Amino acid sequence: MNSSDQIPVGAVDELAPGQRKLVFVDGRSIVLFNIDGTIHAIDNACPHNGASLASGQLEECVLSCPAHGLRFDVRTGCMPGTGGLSLTIFPVRAIEGKLVVSLEVSATSPAQGPMCNAAP
Ligand code: FES
Repeated sequence: MNSSDQIPVGAVDELAPGQRKLVFVDGRSIVLFNIDGTIHAIDNACPHNGASLASGQLEECVLSCPAHGLRFDVRTGCMPGTGGLSLTIFPVRAIEGKLVVSLEVSATSPAQGPMCNAAP
């Protein structure tokens, strides 16, 4: 598999702050969020039991799974305050007005925030 697949998923300006968008790329379902002007991309499958997260409630950066209510920070994929399950997130960039998702899986890039294993 090519680990640096760059997949265009739409125009930057079609996703206003506070909005979300479900896209299908390369056999995956991915949810894009615009949070205060920053785009985040997550795998649309809850790591708990695979439920779709696209309709989950978002509070600031924390998304609640509609199925059983586990919460994940969409910036890091981590559950706030605890270790445990980790949501798959994808790097997303704006290139010439287009949003481009990189499908290389980087669930917990150290550059993107706190580690998931924050001690309780
Ligand atoms: S499937 Fe998401 S919390 Fe259970």
